[in-house]
Amino acid sequence: MELAGKRIVLGVTGGIAAYKAAELVRLLRAEGASVQVVMSDAATHFVTPVTFQALSGKPVFSDQWDPRVASNMAHIDLSREAHTLLVAPASADFLAKLAHGLADDLLSTLALARDCPLLVAPAMNRQMWENPATRRNVATLRGDGVVILGPASGDQACGESGPGRMLEPAEIVAELVAHFQPKRLAGRRVLLTAGPTFEAIDPVRGITNLSSGRMGYAIARAAREAGAEVTLVSGPVSLACPPGVTRVPVTSALEMHAAVHRHVRDADVFVAVAAVADYRPARPLTEKIKKGGQAQAPTIDLVLNPDILAEVAALPDPPLCVGFAAESERLAEYAESKRRSKKIPLIAGNLIQDGFAGDSNRLILFDDEGQHPLPPASKLQLARQLVERIGQLLERRR
Ligand code: C5P
Repeated sequence: MELAGKRIVLGVTGGIAAYKAAELVRLLRAEGASVQVVMSDAATHFVTPVTFQALSGKPVFSDQWDPRVASNMAHIDLSREAHTLLVAPASADFLAKLAHGLADDLLSTLALARDCPLLVAPAMNRQMWENPATRRNVATLRGDGVVILGPASGDQACGESGPGRMLEPAEIVAELVAHFQPKRLAGRRVLLTAGPTFEAIDPVRGITNLSSGRMGYAIARAAREAGAEVTLVSGPVSLACPPGVTRVPVTSALEMHAAVHRHVRDADVFVAVAAVADYRPARPLTEKIKKGGQAQAPTIDLVLNPDILAEVAALPDPPLCVGFAAESERLAEYAESKRRSKKIPLIAGNLIQDGFAGDSNRLILFDDEGQHPLPPASKLQLARQLVERIGQLLERRR
């Protein structure tokens, strides 16, 4: 329930993506938001108000002269009740109206009269999106503080392909959730590692581990929500990249090491969450090892991988370094000794049995001020608390 208690006015304007707004209402309500739908006249030609009424559980407004509003001030009443006005899909015509402050129907009047933030998810043909008039309008809206979500690129309803697709409903919800988070890391650059590494033995076999990558991905998302520019160097996992995060996919520890060194110079914060293999086969084979014919099982010589976190912490002007310690016993002792040996200010410790692979976890933060156990929670909630602590430590470094 990421949007519990939030009142959202959802504006739907005319475009084929209006059908996706129905799913959007469902997802917003599933996160605990109450949703008041306001449609432009054109939108009602794509999807009927009955659909939105059924999904939102509220009557839909589209007419400025709706007799159901006693005061005839629907534009004021609706905007004063809302935490956010979200318009999805936002047509090219609606963006043009917004940019010029036109108020010739209920939704545009509401947008002009609002005293809450406005987020819009454009949806239109690629040529319309790239038209200089639309580019101008979007730039004006950005300058006015309107948040533009997307659009995505890809196949379009008109049969063409290019930029202008509305973001998927789940992505819009994620953006809205992010919008409500405190901007603890605004203007900061955060570099993370996440997931396992895979150390090749031969072309089809390797050494890896059961790290799911979920904690690292949750921290990447939380850092992005907090306003940071986030680069996520990720080992092989099957997770979707959090919206707005730049992912650098890698396979082995050496690749992860190289990718981190390519990006670390710009970083204010480095969070090493990856479960990096300590050793790799000394000589990976280019041909597959054959089973037959050998009396003895083959041996694999291993060599030590670089300790990425310790190296970054030892740079001349290092970013704020945060490590992880996943242990199966004596957590406090091992975490604290890791913190000291790697010379890092903050380490997050967890017991493997508490959440190595699942969606929730139990974390204890160790820093110069001692131990801070966080209550058991989802990985995203823990990630937000860790980001909060990182924000505090950054402030103190100034
Ligand atoms: O030494 P240990 O692997 O237990 O330390 C864990 C912490 O160090 C994690 O933050 C992990 O991402 C980081 N690490 C690293 N490079 C390695 C090994 C661990 O960055 N080769």
